[in-house]
Amino acid sequence: MRVSARAHPNIALVKYWGKRDSELNLPAVGSISITLGDLWTDMHIDTDASADELTVNGEPADSMMPRMSAALDQLFGADRSPISVSSESNFPVAAGLASSASAFASLVVAATAASGRELSKDDLANFAGSLSGSAARSLYGGFAELENAGDRVAVRSLRDTESWPLSVVIAITASGPKSVGSGEAMEISRRTSPFYMRWVGEQEDDLASARNAIEEQDFSALADITEHNCLKMHSVMWSSRPPMVYWNAATLDCMHTVWRLRADGVDVFFTIDAGPQVKAVCTPEYVDRVRDALGEVDGVEHIMISGLGAGAHLIE
Ligand code: DP6
Repeated sequence: MRVSARAHPNIALVKYWGKRDSELNLPAVGSISITLGDLWTDMHIDTDASADELTVNGEPADSMMPRMSAALDQLFGADRSPISVSSESNFPVAAGLASSASAFASLVVAATAASGRELSKDDLANFAGSLSGSAARSLYGGFAELENAGDRVAVRSLRDTESWPLSVVIAITASGPKSVGSGEAMEISRRTSPFYMRWVGEQEDDLASARNAIEEQDFSALADITEHNCLKMHSVMWSSRPPMVYWNAATLDCMHTVWRLRADGVDVFFTIDAGPQVKAVCTPEYVDRVRDALGEVDGVEHIMISGLGAGAHLIE
């Protein structure tokens, strides 16, 4: 039997960085994200396999294998038959574009259906989050908030895709895999950054500011809190031992380009995750201007554009 699901990556406007329980993979802070509609990961689960295998875009993906096998054991039981899992994405994986979010969100949706179980959306989000924290948010479309709720997380929609149709222009400044994966990197930050506790302590205020900005469709307030929260997370990364600096020269140039555009009246702001790519969020009327300006930055290899999209779902 073959079951397939599609999930879209999401980009955090208020970031998750740090775990309060690394065993259960529970985040130390809440987060708010937007789900990208034009980037996707399709996950196929085949239960007629002769051995467990996992391929990503046709290549074996051993690094994801332990987390994937654990997920399949949970659903099918540890004495299950071999299962073949294959996925395709239309964007670079492991380069700070949240590919693990769309991978694990599509995995739990497809594998749960293949196992014949029925889980609530809340349980699916918690299952995905136990595999990769940011994946819990990809169960939801549009704007989503992840909150800590006891020994679980609770994810809810803050606003749908259609009611505030923002666009995201992604400047790819290096397409190879990142040096330190985010799960490992945030543990290093928790243990070593002198700013870590401050980061955790201020998160509730940042979440409230972003929630209000989204509710009121206040672009300029959302720009302000998103960039602040992003740069604060990167300060925690930079002040870790060893330091984790994911940016390159083009990353910084893109940030200045976004600030110049904003000074010229363009509704645009940036955010950057555990990688060197710059995600510029703008209103649809400015997409061409933002694309052209970022495309001219030295070191930008290519540009991807996406609108907002739906949560993870089964496909034919
Ligand atoms: C910088 O969700 O990849 O993208 O739970 O260890 O798998 P694990 O971490 P992951 O971390 C995402 C970090 C981030 C910020 C964010 O998406 O909120």
